[in-house]
Amino acid sequence: LHVAIIMDGNGRWATRRGLPRVAGHRAGVAAVRRVVESAADLGVATLTLFAFSSDNWRRPPEEVGALMSLLQTGLRDELQKFIDGGARLSVIGRRDRLPRGLQQAIAEAEATTAQTSAAGHRLHLRIALDYSARDAIVQAAASWEAGAPPSRERFEHHLRQVLGSGEDRSDVDLLIRTGGELRLSDFLLWECAYAELWFTDKMWPEFGADDLRAALAEFHRRERRFGGVPPPPLALAASGGRGGA
Ligand code: FPP
Repeated sequence: LHVAIIMDGNGRWATRRGLPRVAGHRAGVAAVRRVVESAADLGVATLTLFAFSSDNWRRPPEEVGALMSLLQTGLRDELQKFIDGGARLSVIGRRDRLPRGLQQAIAEAEATTAQTSAAGHRLHLRIALDYSARDAIVQAAASWEAGAPPSRERFEHHLRQVLGSGEDRSDVDLLIRTGGELRLSDFLLWECAYAELWFTDKMWPEFGADDLRAALAEFHRRERRFGGVPPPPLALAASGGRGGA
């Protein structure tokens, strides 16, 4: 199961408490820890977190700087826990505009947890940093070699190569967004083609394992048809009924 999360609302969470916005991002790192720790036990195989969008460069330089150093220390401090928890880590998005120290922390975290992967990881944690879905799709298209146009499957494979996130299936099953906004904000546009969407008014620093559990419970109640028709009523009755369609 692939779950992707747009972690929104750190700034508002902090402002409402009379704290600087960066305090919200700090509390957001704690929420990341809670979710990563519970994900594998809840049946999540791949978890993609939107930590910094390519549009986030528009924020005031002080906030961008604070986020970059939080990400850097976050990656370093959490690394051992990721390894202990059997997580493999990869980062998707552009690297060239990130501060050098963060680039190094990413390379280190990926290299160290690649060994976890060889031993059979429990969770593939993907962090989207300086990420734009449109840019990723354009980059994949631009680097497609001349010749026959790609099939969907080959293009998707190529997109994964471009993103550097390995061979895992990339379709998102469940997309979660906190913070009350109902939009995708250029996150995983290709991969979310058939994702179930789940929104909550909770701000990201308030999000925990119980919320992830609730989102997954609703996901499992939903009927995914992928453009097809619902199963015939007889089949529904035979399987004990799955509730309202
Ligand atoms: C959105 O809230 C949140 C972000 C732009 C940053 C999210 C990053 C983290 C939680 C750090 C992740 C750390 C690791 C180690 C993966 P916002 O600032 O847009 O909130 P607002 O909408 O209330 O202003």
